[in-house]
This record gives sequence, C-alpha cells and structure tokens, in this order.
Amino acid sequence: MVYRVLISDNISEEGVKLLRREKDIKVDIKTGLSEEELIETLGDYHGLIVRSQTKVTRKVIESGVNLRVIGRAGVGVDNIDVEAATERGIVVVNAPEGNTVSAAEHTIAMLLSLLRKIPSANESLKRGEWDRKRFMGVEFRGKTLGIIGLGRIGSLVASKAMGLEMKVLAYDPFITKERARELGVPLTSLQEVIMKSDFLTVHTPLTKNTYHLIDEEKFSMMRRGVYIVNCARGGVIDEKALYEAIKSGKVAGAALDVFEEEPPRNSPLLELEEVVVTPHIAASTVEAQKSVGVIIAEEVISALKGLPVRNAVNLPSIKAEDYEFIRPFMFLGEKMGRLVASLVDSEINEVNVKYYGTLSGRDTEYVTRSVLKGIMEHILGSGINLVSAPMIAESRGIKIVESSTSETDNYTNLLEVVLRGKNVERKVLGTSFGKQDVRVIKIGDYNVDLIPKGHVIISLHEDRPGVIGRVGTLLGQNNINIARMHVGRIVDEPGGIAIMVLSIDNPPSEEVISSMEKLEGIINAIHIYFGG
Ligand code: NAD
Ligand code: MLT
Repeated sequence: MVYRVLISDNISEEGVKLLRREKDIKVDIKTGLSEEELIETLGDYHGLIVRSQTKVTRKVIESGVNLRVIGRAGVGVDNIDVEAATERGIVVVNAPEGNTVSAAEHTIAMLLSLLRKIPSANESLKRGEWDRKRFMGVEFRGKTLGIIGLGRIGSLVASKAMGLEMKVLAYDPFITKERARELGVPLTSLQEVIMKSDFLTVHTPLTKNTYHLIDEEKFSMMRRGVYIVNCARGGVIDEKALYEAIKSGKVAGAALDVFEEEPPRNSPLLELEEVVVTPHIAASTVEAQKSVGVIIAEEVISALKGLPVRNAVNLPSIKAEDYEFIRPFMFLGEKMGRLVASLVDSEINEVNVKYYGTLSGRDTEYVTRSVLKGIMEHILGSGINLVSAPMIAESRGIKIVESSTSETDNYTNLLEVVLRGKNVERKVLGTSFGKQDVRVIKIGDYNVDLIPKGHVIISLHEDRPGVIGRVGTLLGQNNINIARMHVGRIVDEPGGIAIMVLSIDNPPSEEVISSMEKLEGIINAIHIYFGG
C-alpha cells in the first residue's frame, strides 16, 4: 500500500526528506490552500501535516475519508478540531519539544526589547534621528516576572529569567508543588501573580478555559506600569482590554508574537509605540524548524505504519520498551474483546478489564483500548481503532473500569475481561506465553485452551459419550476440517455440562451452526472469526 501525505504549511526540508525516503509514502506539498480547496483535495490523502496556518476544521476532517493521521509541526493544536479527529479515529500528533528553547528565547528577547524600547530606537536611528531621551528603559534585575503556565516553555523562561537576576512567581493549576520546587519557582494563585508582577508573561495553551484569561478585570488588579508578554497564543489575553489598559497607562507596554486574528487586521494595538510585535515567529529558528519537521515526519511515518507514536494528542504516550512488552496483550485483548462481546446478545453497560501478575504496574492503556476495539467492532463492524474506541464506547453509555493486582495462580500474567449488561455477565481470561503465543484460558468458569486466530466454534454440550463424534461427523459432511480441538469442564468429573472449542480451517455457514445446535446433547454453538 502507498500512503499519501499532504503538507499544507511549510515544514523543514529535513522533515520532507525523511518522508520522501519511505518507499511506501508519496508526499505532496500544497501550501496556502483555502478551506474549500483543502476539502476538495484531502480525500486522496492518508496523512496531513500542518503548522498553525492551516485550520483543520470538522468539515476538513470529514472530507479526509482516508485520513489516518494529522501531524502538527509545533506545539499548539488549537487550529485542529481534535474532537472531530478522535471521533473518526484519526490520530493527531504534534512535536511539543522541538521548539521549546526557541519559544523561551524569543519570550526573553521580546521582554528585553520591550523594556529597552529597542525596536523604536532602531527605527528612529535609521530614520536619521539621534534621540537619547525618548528611549528611556527599565532594568529587569530584581524585578518580578509573573509566569502564567509553567509547562515546557514557561519553566524554561523561568530559569532564564532567574539567570538574569529577575524574581519569578508562577501560576499553573496543573503543576505539582514538587515540580515547582524542583524548578525553584514559587507557585501561587493567579490573583497573586497578577497583583505582584512587574512583568507578566503567559505560556498556556488556548482552550475554552484560557480564552481571555487576562481580561479587563485582571488588568485592573495589576501594578501600574506593568509590562505584558504573549508568545503563547492570541486569545489568552483580551486584546481590546489590553489596548485600553495601555491607553490608560496601567500597562506600560506589551510584546506580542501572537494575535487573536493572524495576521492581525486593523488591530489598534499595532499603532501603539508601547507595543512590540513579531509575526508569530517564536519558533522560527533554524534549529526549532529542523527539529519539529523531523519529529513530525517520524511521527506521521510511525502512525501510518501502525507503529507506536510518542506525541499523540488523542492517544496516551508510551515508551518503546513498554510498547514491546504489551504488544502481545494488545493482540490478545482485541481478540478477547471480540470473544466476550460474542457471548452477550443484549446491551452492554460495563466493561471491566483486570490485569494480573507481571501486567500489573505496567502501562496498559493500549491494552484496554484494544479490548474496547474488539468489543466495539463486534457490535458496530470494522472502522474502529485505538483512537476512537474509548470515545465510541463511552458515547454508548458503557462504563470502563480498569484494575490490577500483582497476584496470579499458575500464570505469570493474566488478562481478564468482564462484560456486564442487563441481567448478564460474561467473563474471559487470557495469557501470553511469549511474544507470539497468546491463549484464552477461561470462558466463564470453563477452562479452555483457545488460540484466538482464524475461525473458531465454541459450544456447550452434555458431557456424555457420542456428542463430540456427532459434531465431527457434521463438520466432516460439510467439508470443514478441524485443526484444533479442546474440551473442558468446570469440575473435572463426567456428566455435567462441558465446553468444546474447535479451531476450523474454513468458515461454517449459518446452517451448519444451526444444525450443530440441533444435534443431540448440544446446548448451543457460536462461530467467531478472530482474523489472522
Ligand atoms: P505545555 O503544555 O508544556 O505548557 C502549558 C502549561 O499551561 C501547562 O503546564 C498547563 O498546566 C498550563 N495551563 C493550562 N491551563 C492553564 C490555566 N488555565 N492557567 C495556568 N496555566 C495553565 O506547553 P508549552 O510547550 O510550554 O507551550 C505553551 C504555549 O506556547 C502553547 O500555547 C503553545 O502553542 C505556544 N507556543 C507558541 C509558539 C510561538 O511560535 N509563538 C511556539 C511554541 C509554543
Ligand atoms: C507552536 O504552537 O508550536 C507555535 O505556534 C509555533 C509554530 O507553529 O510555528
């Protein structure tokens, strides 16, 4: 199969080369497309790579009928409708670490330019003026820099600011006190950061919660003469309120790399001498662009080839060694999901996944997702993947419960899946003996030895002579070869109800299954296709 990748914003040549080196990937670069043009074009592509210019809206995503991955060569994914992508099972990857240093350096550069009025002084001198009074600056040594958002960039800005002898205060509700202590940054309330800062810089993503985080009310709480920096996202600061705060003298100046509308059209902020601006270039360095280009190319290649990705926005990240360990359990989990769902013919309310032995304490989210994929595929057909499975299950009101224990009897690892529905509960247990050898070892209370591959018939029967022979004869008459057979009991005594698991070489028709159910001594029979 040849995967087609569309690059719709410029990324580094190194990234493009990496993609083009892959024999099964064909790359097209088409930048500056309108939403309509992108919608017309995207249907042919399996991958889309963007920076911040392309708006990957729900409509765009819906037009990508073959789309499997969207790569964002940078951090912010506010230009991508991640929810719409998740619903359609499209993995969204970004390159969050590739431009941290450049963005932090640009933040400091913007702050210093602002404090020393470098852009206006530069322009003035180039106009032929020599005005040494107009460009009176302020020192940053000893001043307090308030940082809102102490993530990758915020924390690097903090360390650089401390190196420049500034005092630092930060607000970030999602960072632990330990992490802040490690960074040597006092963590406090938003109000305190706002009230105590001489300079304020924002480093949050743009979300519903951070939209206009700094608004008129926050400006009113600030020290008079405060300086503001935004190298994160336009929209985190209310631009109208900022304009008024500068006009009133509350804010002495602002340095902005990002805007609510990009490029900013008719923004009165651009007319103010107190405002220093750059056109969203905090990440535009040779190093950062090379880095994000290469990272995003690697991620898109992995996603297209079904390999684990490091920076998925709508999938949990996983270390390569953990992925290697859980890979057989992902395979097993998906098959067990399909099996347990085949045993239920009413609505499902709850899926319980339990990890035993060496699986406990491991990163098993991908296994749970695989179980859900198997269950949902049984119910809804193909087209469900690890990205969409949890969302689809939850949207159908299915509760997902995970637990683990280090204990196991006889096995080093066990995976248990229990489905609960209205008046019904079905349980299956499986294990992996190595990278290739996975088995289902229990269905309900019955011990079995089922290799979950190909076509399998599972049947309950009366444990007495002749029943198995009649099944063999029926399958033989229908030219169905039995490759493997396992018969199990709940208690190892004759005369009760037993289970029969038959791996067969070719699929049985519905008539064969219903004839089997009519055989004397057979209680029920189901056919499951586990795939390869
Ligand atoms: P990050 O995810 O590492 O850090 C963001 C931090 O914001 C997190 O620690 C999070 O806990 C915190 N946060 C979230 N909501 C918050 C809230 N309501 N109040 C306070 N803190 C909150 O991201 P990052 O890599 O540091 O990037 C930060 C921002 O910079 C993003 O918006 C990104 O898009 C932007 N960015 C811009 C450029 C540019 O070219 N101008 C370059 C790189 C990144
Ligand atoms: C980002 O979020 O990474 C920035 O906006 C940088 C960029 O896309 O150039």
